[in-house]
Amino acid sequence: MAVAIAVTRERREGETRCALTPETAKKLIGLGCTVTVEAGTGAGSSFPDADYAAAGAVVAKDTKAALAGADVLLKVRGPTAQEISALKPGAVVVALLDAFREKETVKALAEAGATAFAMEFVPRITRAQVMDALSSQANLAGYRAVIEAAHAYGRGFPMMMTAAGTVAPAKAFVMGVGVAGLQAIATARRMGAVVTATDVRPATKEQVESLGAKFIAVEDEEFRNAQTAGGYAKEMSAEYRAKQAALTGEHVKKQDIVITTALIPGRPAPVLLTAEHVASMKPGSVIVDLAVEAGGNVQGSKAGETVVTPNGVSIVGIANLPGRIAADASSLYARNLTAFLDLILKDGAVVIDPEDEILKAAVVTSGGAVVHEGVRN
Ligand code: NAI
Repeated sequence: MAVAIAVTRERREGETRCALTPETAKKLIGLGCTVTVEAGTGAGSSFPDADYAAAGAVVAKDTKAALAGADVLLKVRGPTAQEISALKPGAVVVALLDAFREKETVKALAEAGATAFAMEFVPRITRAQVMDALSSQANLAGYRAVIEAAHAYGRGFPMMMTAAGTVAPAKAFVMGVGVAGLQAIATARRMGAVVTATDVRPATKEQVESLGAKFIAVEDEEFRNAQTAGGYAKEMSAEYRAKQAALTGEHVKKQDIVITTALIPGRPAPVLLTAEHVASMKPGSVIVDLAVEAGGNVQGSKAGETVVTPNGVSIVGIANLPGRIAADASSLYARNLTAFLDLILKDGAVVIDPEDEILKAAVVTSGGAVVHEGVRN
């Protein structure tokens, strides 16, 4: 018997991405699976039902029909209660579950007897790079943040020499140089801005400079030790944050565009721009806060809104930036998912190796229980 893979429409508000593209559907069918896609799954990403059908997938009229007999459900966000109730016991669910926050979904998946894997828990080891959905989505978010900034900014990015005079280049400052920040630097540079960037991890200095931007940071003893063994940032001391805020204060006054991307795993996002920083900026400047859904790097940012301050600074707080570049975000995510499925598809069956490092890290529910220690506690 072939493994039956189902994909349903995303139902979370504003979710334009989808978990499978016609390209990846074809690949899974080539591996001997059957693929059923709920009608309209790819609509938000410009993939018509007909393209899935042409790839060999069955297009089902609704969620229930799509899930009938499914061994595996693929999603972008966690499944809804209705979807979970339609799953057969033991079905595998793979999604960006947001498992630390979506407690109800996790509980329902456990009660339904599903084996659920959270793509956000795939470890960042070399073997798992091809399934790293956090990176694939953050990369596009970093790109899109600059496009959104350019859209909200009433001036151009590049220097332009015209008969009527010279247009000065925009000054862009990227705060937080992980995957999203690096792409934001590269994009702003390609668009002609003069770019500076900051981070608390010393390893980022060379990366920033290799992209042709200038690195600015408080480079003290604490900074030299700010990176964890896993490559992430530590939460910085109050003393460091005060020094950082002072340096930022001098710098942001002169900036036209600020893109903030700073995150600390398992903690609220650090506040990098205070209300005073924002008040010191020039009218017409634009801030894009990529951390807005994790509490925000900017005082006064609001998820899903653009706030214009009394001094004329726009603080853009778009939720789900990858969803604004949905076709590419879906394509990359779907490839991350199919690479993940490669781990559990063996000779026409789902086989979960309990010793596999990636599966062990990503499994959240199994056998009727929440098995992920971090989520359970
Ligand atoms: P992230 O999304 O957790 O955080 C974004 C950035 O914010 C990080 O660079 C972090 O250092 C920075 N940050 C945190 N607090 C800050 C503060 N107070 N001020 C300024 N910046 C602050 O990071 P992301 O993008 O997930 O990357 C984390 C690390 O993982 C990086 O070292 C990256 O190179 C690495 N990585 C490794 C991969 C692999 O080996 N397969 C794949 C992807 C990322």
